[in-house]
Amino acid sequence: MKRHIRFFPEEQVITLLDQRYLPEQEKWFVCRRLRDVIEAMQNMVVRGAPALGVVAAYACCLSAATMDSGNPEWQKELDQKLDRLANSRPTAVNLVHVVSKMREVWKSDADIKLQDLLWLWVRVAKELHAEDVSTNKAIGAYGVELMEEGDSVMTHCNAGALATGGYGTALGVFRAAKSEGMELHAIANETRPFLQGARLTAYELVQDGISVSVACDNAAGYLMSKGSVDKVLVGADRITLNGDTVNKIGTYSLALLAYYHQIPFYVAAPSSTFDRHLVQGEEVPIEERPHKEVSRIGEHKIVPPGVGVFNYAFDITPNNLISGIVTEKGVLRTPYTASIKDTIFS
Ligand code: MRU
Repeated sequence: MKRHIRFFPEEQVITLLDQRYLPEQEKWFVCRRLRDVIEAMQNMVVRGAPALGVVAAYACCLSAATMDSGNPEWQKELDQKLDRLANSRPTAVNLVHVVSKMREVWKSDADIKLQDLLWLWVRVAKELHAEDVSTNKAIGAYGVELMEEGDSVMTHCNAGALATGGYGTALGVFRAAKSEGMELHAIANETRPFLQGARLTAYELVQDGISVSVACDNAAGYLMSKGSVDKVLVGADRITLNGDTVNKIGTYSLALLAYYHQIPFYVAAPSSTFDRHLVQGEEVPIEERPHKEVSRIGEHKIVPPGVGVFNYAFDITPNNLISGIVTEKGVLRTPYTASIKDTIFS
């Protein structure tokens, strides 16, 4: 997979492979100011919790680059911009973590000049990006140990290179398997309404020569009942201290189906997806997105006028349905409160 997030520090420009047009067209979305980045995040040009974190780091640089250093209020205005950035999508915790990290770097030198801050942030942002990719590779290596030759592994949404700085969390496991010569077959659930599975997961796996089929979301139960699914492996947008996992809407239903059919259900996520401030899943803010994403397909209305729509972007999978959480530090097992405390926050 080619790099989908590109940052040009000399020009202070971020270019993003526009995920709204995939797989049909490869178009690039250009961000020169913070508002372009926020628009890109909210309209799904770029999405996926770790990818939002990486883009947020570069967005801090754009924010600093477009400030006027002669403005005596620049610190206050920059602080406000960081707040806007951190709140641009509410569920993915990586966004909040990255903005906090960049703020911490800034505030550790109270007298820093704007220009020096900019170049300090450029360095930190590039490091965060590289770290995200190496973290994913470590997740991939641990994840492969849970797989067996020839497994058909169902995944939901897109937890791949496109959802991260590169390589992917759940899809990183497929990539790691391939590089070790292990054959896995991916079943990508289409993932209504934005179709991240059909459009994005299939796009990136097929590019890397990994076997993949797409299934309608509502086929999961039947596929499991007829023995077509050996494992389920998904990503995460936020994991609370007890292991409850918030991920793309539909993940909870899959976990229940997997439990009934006695199929292992794994989550793959980096440490940065864990929220040390929240104890259980119900505390996580669940994003509600525009109704038109559900009521229309392209230009076509598929729901009669005046009919209500639910468009929750995420749901909560309780920890007792999860067989293991694959992180860059190893595979966590139940009881998650203890394993998360010992491994992630020790
Ligand atoms: O709404 P999205 O596409 O930003 O949703 C986030 C996701 O990509 C998924 O929930 C994914 O499984 C976790 S992020 C690696």
